[in-house]
Amino acid sequence: MPHSYDVLIIGGGAAGLSLALHLAENHSICLISKGKLEDGSTFYAQGGIAAVLAPEDSIESHVADTLAAGAGLCKEQVVREIVAGGPAAIRWLQEQGVPFTPAPDPAAGIPWHLTREGGHSHRRVVHAADATGRALETTLEQRVREHRNIDIREDHIAVDLITARKLGDSGPDRCLGAYVLQCSDHHVDAYAARHVVLATGGASKVYLYTSNPDTATGDGIAMAWRAGCRVANMEFNQFHPTCLYHPQAKSFLITEAIRGEGGILRLPDGTPFMKRFHPRGELAPRDIVARAIDHEMKRIGSEFVYLDISHKPAAFIREHFPNVHARCLDFGYDMTKEPLPVVPAAHYTCGGIMSDASGRTDLPGLYAIGETACTGLHGANRMASNSLLECVVMGHKLAQYIDGETARGAPREDLPAWDESRVTDSDEEVVVTHNWHELRRFMWDYVGIVRTTKRLRRAQSRVALLQHEIEEYYGNFRISHDLLELRNLTQIADLIVQSAMSRRESRGLHYTLDYPEPAAETANTILVPRNYQGADDASLSAVNAP
Ligand code: FAD
Ligand code: SIN
Repeated sequence: MPHSYDVLIIGGGAAGLSLALHLAENHSICLISKGKLEDGSTFYAQGGIAAVLAPEDSIESHVADTLAAGAGLCKEQVVREIVAGGPAAIRWLQEQGVPFTPAPDPAAGIPWHLTREGGHSHRRVVHAADATGRALETTLEQRVREHRNIDIREDHIAVDLITARKLGDSGPDRCLGAYVLQCSDHHVDAYAARHVVLATGGASKVYLYTSNPDTATGDGIAMAWRAGCRVANMEFNQFHPTCLYHPQAKSFLITEAIRGEGGILRLPDGTPFMKRFHPRGELAPRDIVARAIDHEMKRIGSEFVYLDISHKPAAFIREHFPNVHARCLDFGYDMTKEPLPVVPAAHYTCGGIMSDASGRTDLPGLYAIGETACTGLHGANRMASNSLLECVVMGHKLAQYIDGETARGAPREDLPAWDESRVTDSDEEVVVTHNWHELRRFMWDYVGIVRTTKRLRRAQSRVALLQHEIEEYYGNFRISHDLLELRNLTQIADLIVQSAMSRRESRGLHYTLDYPEPAAETANTILVPRNYQGADDASLSAVNAP
């Protein structure tokens, strides 16, 4: 018999935790995470959460900034709904106990300090010093652990979705559950649920250098694609402009809020350069800053540029950026006295599983929220701190949808057990580690910040070889955590390259030397899997329409 729940949530970051807490009173929930709950990107978020709170700010202004950053590809209705949900989301997080940094003068009417980041025309980023994600994740995690209706399964990795069609049912397809590998004993179980939610985060681990934790392997996107869901805008991979340049730092992020509070980007000889690229200088949208740094590094043959906030008082720096300050000291840099060497690294997946403003995907019973989804909020480029906002607001909106969805029947009890009768233990694990490294290296070299058709073609032929080899391996050997992630990452690489090749213009995060200008007419890139059966609802067909 499968494990059986009302709602199976795959992913324990901001999106999954918010949804679980909103649903827990009325539903039985299983929350699955392939590592510890905190092992996703949420825990590492630094800058904060964007929401309209200051009296001089407005929803219109936040919407306009988001649309401008998205370079013509945002879905305006979705932007409006998510931005409008911001103030309530912040209040809800505060009720849960998230310790946001208070305003220096609460008498001015706003209880929290608001910082500023690229692309925002007002101070509107609520934060918990420079470790907002850690504050949010640990607070929500504690609430989830206290709830009697939520079963938590850590170190459990979802392998694939179970659909009616895979079981040979006639009639319209729907999602029935998922196969899940328990990492400690390598056992695969079936989980049945009325509603299955992918909250599995992004896929930036497909690149050699990334600010993301190891969990960001795009599993949800790959699983949804295999199950017949459309995937959109995968060419828009965001590179964060400033990660610490240090061999041991593993691309440690240096928050954009440092530029928001006056940090200056300088060449190795000390010259500032951002005003040459954009009137907003250091606070230009992220794609422009990352490309400017990449351009300057290549122009002068340097391996990094500097980010300098040492002109601010040391006490101010220590108070606002205690986490970054301490980590940089560990690596031998005192940012109160000297500039930090920085480089761009892969940071955020703007594309993902096509989903509507409630989180529904093409497959009835399957939903996607958070970084794994492509709702239309980010378009061709995500604005800083709009991601956590999307996770929390979409967690609430999907909960409202599921609460109102009474028609779906009980979880199926006849899901077949996982079949291991035709596989053996792997004889050469080195295939997995070798291919893992090769994939991430050529994605960085050929599908990075600046692209060309020739480089994309090179990547395409290598992806095809890897896919062939990995599918063969997958079919013959017992699955492991690493093999599953590699299989998914290779699928992600294929989707990124396909999308990038089909975009014959430069727009937002996709920049190619062969088509350096934006086209007059543009559209979202929508990839359709061979087993796609049509959208669950007519509104989904319009998802991502510009
Ligand atoms: P995640 O938090 O990544 O969680 C994904 C979960 O899914 C994890 O629990 C993972 O274990 C689980 N999972 C994945 N695959 C499987 C599987 N197959 N089976 C079981 N479980 C699985 N955004 C902002 O808005 N503001 C910021 O200040 C900010 N700073 C950032 C700083 C850093 C260093 C990084 C990396 C990102 C930052 N971002 C920021 C982006 C933001 O943190 C993420 O987009 C957001 O946290 C994603 O949340 P999520 O819930 O969608 O996914
Ligand atoms: C940062 O703090 O610079 C990251 C913000 C984000 O990715 O939204």
